[in-house]
Amino acid sequence: MAFPKDFVWGAATASYQVEGAAFEDGKGQGIWDVFCKRPGAVWQNHSGDVACDHYHRYVEDVEIMKKIGLKAYRMEMSWPRVMPDGVGNVNRKGIDFYDKLFDELLKADIEPWVTLYHWNLPQALQEKGGWQSPESSKWFSEYTALVVNKFSDRVTKWMTINEPQVIIMHGLLTGLHAPGFKLGMAEALAAGHNLLLAHGRAVSAVRQNAKREVSVGYAPVGWIRRPATNDQCDIDAARKASFEIDPTTLWNSAWWMDPVFFGKYPDQGLEAFGSIAPRVSAGDMEIISLPLDFLGVNIYTASAVKAGEDGKPELVPYKVGYQMNTYDWPVVPDVVYWAGKFFHERYNKPLVITENGTAVAEIIARDGGVHDPQRSEFIAKHLIEVDRAIQEGVPYKGYFYWSLLDNFEWNCGYKHRFGLVYVDFETGERIVKDSAVFYGDVINGKIGLG
Ligand code: GAL
Repeated sequence: MAFPKDFVWGAATASYQVEGAAFEDGKGQGIWDVFCKRPGAVWQNHSGDVACDHYHRYVEDVEIMKKIGLKAYRMEMSWPRVMPDGVGNVNRKGIDFYDKLFDELLKADIEPWVTLYHWNLPQALQEKGGWQSPESSKWFSEYTALVVNKFSDRVTKWMTINEPQVIIMHGLLTGLHAPGFKLGMAEALAAGHNLLLAHGRAVSAVRQNAKREVSVGYAPVGWIRRPATNDQCDIDAARKASFEIDPTTLWNSAWWMDPVFFGKYPDQGLEAFGSIAPRVSAGDMEIISLPLDFLGVNIYTASAVKAGEDGKPELVPYKVGYQMNTYDWPVVPDVVYWAGKFFHERYNKPLVITENGTAVAEIIARDGGVHDPQRSEFIAKHLIEVDRAIQEGVPYKGYFYWSLLDNFEWNCGYKHRFGLVYVDFETGERIVKDSAVFYGDVINGKIGLG
């Protein structure tokens, strides 16, 4: 195994998915608080009102992380908990919560990696237009400045925005996620541009307010196509398809990453969107492309392509009976290998897998344990591919399993369990799954992956 000594081993969560305490201690409402109240918006009308009750159980949760052997914890601070109106007023009790959580983590030798935005937009800002407002990047930079100023004595790893693709695609186009809008592509692209600006202004706010040396990254979906075979022509087709933009969807990588690393939208994307491409004002791209320390990528699955007759990438359907998670997402471990290769070649930045994980249908066994060999195998197989990439020069610096806890899985409510730790959503009881022990043993070198 080629994992460097300082490789970061962690697990991830997001505030609305785990915290609960939705109406306590001065927290403002977020767009998910509102969206979940809309009948039928979420599976079985679940909500994150209580979720994993992490807000009250964080001490126990940090103890569990320590017991597992995690070295890092990727988490989001809840914007509406800290600034109930999004801007202006600061909620002292919200600040206190994160103060205590960071201290607890550091006491346990677990490094906090903080995501500034993992979809918990204050409702007050949604009412002012949300990401559609040209002011939104300034709101986000005000929030960022506040929390970085307050916490960068202890937190040195910051990520701006989690999965811009999903924020815009599901929040504003399909309506599957909060705020649940079904706008047209032109409006979605304009909001996407505001979101990219928010990323850039946050990068600047982190650097300007940091009390110590910090690392700043971004956590988009690491969307790629993987080659159906190892033939060079299929690899080339997969690479090409990985950075192509289909104007009927926002599922792609280049539209969301090229502006950040190259300071421009990809030409092929601009051509594909044509007259509905967003207006870029003078100076925007300078803000959007401020230098980053790492590229975080959330990677779960990918479709396969081969080189078609005319050399064009052609999708190759998975065989009947392919391996999948409870969402039906194909389990294809080499996705992390190819993603590492393609993103390294194109952007040449240190890479961190900010999310990778699986949901399986598990049951509590007669002995009271949760035995989840599918998840242990998933982790092992993906880490073997991370290792293969590192051996071939891909600068992977860390891996965060999604998720630490079973949690509120957005519009699917509590249907899918991704956790290393089982959560009983009625009682709040936690059960450390076998996969958590397995992952801990890998982290601590007790077992190899061969
Ligand atoms: C990601 C998201 C996470 C989590 C995960 C599993 O898109 O960032 O919050 O829900 O998917 O579906």
